[in-house]
Amino acid sequence: MCGIMAVKGVGAVNGVYEGLKNLEYRGYDSAGIAIKDCNGIKAFKSIGYISELEKTGVLDCSGGIAIGHTRWATHGGVTIENCHPHCSEDKKIWVVHNGIIENHKLLRSDVLAGVVFYGETDTEVIPKLIEQYYTGDVWQAFRSAIDKLNGSYAIVMMCEYDDKVYFARKSSPLVIGKGNGFVVSSDVNGLIDCSEKCVIEDNTLGYIDNNLHIYDKNTNKININWIAMDERSIEADKGGNEHFMIKEINEIPRALQSTYNSFLKSEVVLPDNISNVLLVGCGTSYHSCLMGKSYIERVAGIKSECVIASEFIYSNYIVREGTVGIFVSQSGETADTLSAIHKAKELGIYCIAITNVRESSITRICDSVLYIDVGVEVCVASTKAYTSQVLMLMLLSDVIARNLKCEGTCKEDVLGCNCGNCLEIRANEYNDLFNLDIKSYLSKVRGVSEEIVKKDKLHLIGKAVDYITALEGALKIKEVSYIFTDAYPSGELKHGTLSLIEEGSIVIAIATQGGILLDKSKNAIHEICARGGKCIIISQFPEEEFNEVIWCNDGKRCVKRGEYIPLPNLNSLLMPIVSIIPIDLIAYTVSVMKGYNPDKPRNLAKSVTVE
Ligand code: M6R
Repeated sequence: MCGIMAVKGVGAVNGVYEGLKNLEYRGYDSAGIAIKDCNGIKAFKSIGYISELEKTGVLDCSGGIAIGHTRWATHGGVTIENCHPHCSEDKKIWVVHNGIIENHKLLRSDVLAGVVFYGETDTEVIPKLIEQYYTGDVWQAFRSAIDKLNGSYAIVMMCEYDDKVYFARKSSPLVIGKGNGFVVSSDVNGLIDCSEKCVIEDNTLGYIDNNLHIYDKNTNKININWIAMDERSIEADKGGNEHFMIKEINEIPRALQSTYNSFLKSEVVLPDNISNVLLVGCGTSYHSCLMGKSYIERVAGIKSECVIASEFIYSNYIVREGTVGIFVSQSGETADTLSAIHKAKELGIYCIAITNVRESSITRICDSVLYIDVGVEVCVASTKAYTSQVLMLMLLSDVIARNLKCEGTCKEDVLGCNCGNCLEIRANEYNDLFNLDIKSYLSKVRGVSEEIVKKDKLHLIGKAVDYITALEGALKIKEVSYIFTDAYPSGELKHGTLSLIEEGSIVIAIATQGGILLDKSKNAIHEICARGGKCIIISQFPEEEFNEVIWCNDGKRCVKRGEYIPLPNLNSLLMPIVSIIPIDLIAYTVSVMKGYNPDKPRNLAKSVTVE
């Protein structure tokens, strides 16, 4: 949610611009850069994607310091006035900010009464406060202003009074890189050409002159821990693909292999006597939690519950003895999830994080961390992270099972254990997963997408874990194609939703569960087809299995009311990982057919760092 950048050193303007392009997934309503040269500070702003900034001539300018911002609007519309960087009344102090200043209205009417504001953002109070407190000592004025702020922030400031870059962090991520000069960024993707990085701790502030200086709120100096940059954290290009979304879907098999390897190397620490598992996340990560619950209950046989992070924060959650919390977040920076962890910790819950991003905030506040290690996920719509989160949760369910029942006897053998309680998946079955042929879906997906693109609503159904896949598929399709899409358990259709089905309705039916569940899924498919709807069936069972339910008499003749997308026939525990892939591909294809950019859906951002 908003990307902030600053560069102090040679090539500052270009460095900020290129860094912002790498942070664009954090927000893309508008963007701006302010540049300091020997004549003072000037700013360039534009509405829309970062590339629009080029048209302002910003890249023709140079300066020793530049700060920049890509915005996801929270306060005030998408206008040039509300676009960052924001400045003091005398235009000598410039600030970029990510987060929310909760007391900005009070500050405007109290400390800043009489000050003229040009926009509606909460951020604008920051440079105005610094200006108010400035009496010759910038550092003192900066600290006084920060002291006044309530809420969450990552702030970068520069001014005409000195050549320093000032920063502060509270509940919003900030990282500093060192190369030829210094780079400040919302996340490591902005640290281009840096050899080392330093993750800024929460509730700290500081400045950069020729060195980096960090202090806590009581102005005690904090030791600086430079870490060598990890090459993989900055590999954010499309690799010849038209969009990141398709690149990332194609990467799913490799990502799954990487997650599996990461699991093998991990040393997750579990408390003794777990009797209940609480899983918390948002959006796609919440859907992973739902899958995690089903694995933990099936494999480890213990009670699990899932709560959406933003609901957990304000719930009256009753903790039972032996509760372990699993918090899932691709970015590791989602504000709702971080707040939920703080609450869980207050309740005395042992917290395990599942994340993709090393050194992200979640890794610092949880007791134990598992990395899915899928490489950078740039597209706002999460694809490869979801499938890997599900795999990691499945593997974790095995660890929990062994902890509870195997007393450590089979800890080394994760590829199939014969104690009767753990995952029964053989090495070759994992290999099938790591060698999935994504391209094999493409022609079928194209055909069904051509029909879906004409619709303004779409339904997804499934039973048991297939219902969770339906929820995730519905989120993906609505997120990037803007078609109203909803998901229901197959058995619920007849309790209400069936009234929406009419001639030409399209329903995606996921049917990977065998036995009685397959029979029940077929019943639901028939209920739809008999009412003129068309089902797109995603299943590993042979197409013939569904013939009896998709062929219907329309009064004159027998018509086929179904399409079939075949899945590979893998171990039933692995089916939720493969069944989402054709739906991700449908979401992508429909979005592109409609002329949208699936990587940057309207009104959204990749990293949701505000509650
Ligand atoms: O980084 P996180 O996993 O915590 O993000 C949570 C959600 O914001 C995220 O999964 C969102 O729902 C995706 N855009 C869905 O594709």
